[in-house]
Amino acid sequence: MAAFGLTMKMSPVIQRRLERAIIDSQPRGKLLNCSRMKRLPTAVANHPSTLPAINQRRLMRDLNAIGRIGIGDRGAVTRLVFSVKELRSRQVLIHLMRQAGLKINIDAIGNIFGRLEGSDAKAPAVLAGSHLDTVIHGGKYDGPVGVIGALEAIRTIGENKIAIRAPLEVVCFVGEESSRFGFSTLGSSLVAGEVRAKDLANAVDAQGTKLADVLSSLGIAAKQLRGLTRDPKTLKAYFELHIEQGPILEAIGKRIGLVTSIAAPSRFRITFTGQADHSGTTPMEMRKDALVAAAQLIEFIEKTCRKFSAMAKGRVVGTVGALKIEPGVINAVPGKAELLVDIRSITAQSKTRVARLVIQEAQSIARRRAIGVEVRTIREEEPVPLDKRLLRVTKAICDKKQIVYQIMPSGAGHDAMQMAKIAPAAMIFIPSQRGISHNPLEWTAPDDIGLGTQLLMEAMIYVANE
Ligand code: GLV
Ligand code: MN
Ligand code: MN
Repeated sequence: MAAFGLTMKMSPVIQRRLERAIIDSQPRGKLLNCSRMKRLPTAVANHPSTLPAINQRRLMRDLNAIGRIGIGDRGAVTRLVFSVKELRSRQVLIHLMRQAGLKINIDAIGNIFGRLEGSDAKAPAVLAGSHLDTVIHGGKYDGPVGVIGALEAIRTIGENKIAIRAPLEVVCFVGEESSRFGFSTLGSSLVAGEVRAKDLANAVDAQGTKLADVLSSLGIAAKQLRGLTRDPKTLKAYFELHIEQGPILEAIGKRIGLVTSIAAPSRFRITFTGQADHSGTTPMEMRKDALVAAAQLIEFIEKTCRKFSAMAKGRVVGTVGALKIEPGVINAVPGKAELLVDIRSITAQSKTRVARLVIQEAQSIARRRAIGVEVRTIREEEPVPLDKRLLRVTKAICDKKQIVYQIMPSGAGHDAMQMAKIAPAAMIFIPSQRGISHNPLEWTAPDDIGLGTQLLMEAMIYVANE
């Protein structure tokens, strides 16, 4: 535990429960069944043990430079996708990639790829990265650790002239966060060919600005986006280094998490339409209060997800993260209430079940109260398993370097869940202090960021030379 910025004391009972929860969440059985994989640890044993160390000072310098863009009160970072601040962070990245001598390619949506050639220019690339956009009032590590970490890994390989066969690429994906348009992993979804035109057309921000209009104001035509899909034959692997954004690694005193699968969200915009009325003259029994209907639904979501909270049963979590009321004044009965609902699970079945219950309940509340309800799906995704073979590679490197790791699922969404559809994908987690993320207090010890980056670099070298 000494490696963490903040040491956490935990009762043995809670620690055992946490460990049990992690074990319960593991996909059963299959991990060790592949005969090709059984040879991996030996192969990794031959992987050079004298690889150079990444430059942690330079890594933290660049992470801090990105972290200052969009910083506000109490260190909160806000770089919503396509805001001036977010565009600025991408410019800084381009500058850093240029300094590192990488070949830069920017696609139509603005995903940035920086490439270092290997000895075989035709070989499929080993790609690593994440995102630079943030939530509103977020922290400085969710996303940038994966982008700057990958850049640092490739810079170290380049300047030390380490022999690599396959090309290496660092990527910054546009718009991983759903905070502005309710639409997550925009850039990586386009690269993976996973975007439905209908979902894009429905995307609108809290100010009522359509994503399609923002794109056209940036000179990005919808038809250009169809050509962004990357040919899977050009990719050997995708790696993403990320902060855990949860409390488990810190609680069990491990510095590295190796990710098995990523929980996926089902997201809905649910709008109750009642009637705005005078708050002083309208008798209680004659009201059509949309907000009270919304409140009932919010409570239903919490109760239902609590019933599905056991990991072993495919834990489901549900959140109403945003609520808009009209007219939204103290002296009027709310006539309209719009809720943004996010339901996630590692298990598709449980997620679908909960989502169905929530929609049925919204309709039943509206019927009981004789008001209107509209349910719009923002996006529905399937939980994504990551590549077992790459997991074995990172695991074997950890074993060789005597790094203690935890095999675990990810509750948060990541670009890796899209990239896994077109390439073998792996994620490396590093601890989040007190599990806090999407919050200005988000913090990870520099030594852990350095360790994760070193592991990322060694895994990239191994896979590039396989
Ligand atoms: C990404 O941060 C998510 O919402 O899971
Ligand atoms: Mn995030
Ligand atoms: Mn992230």
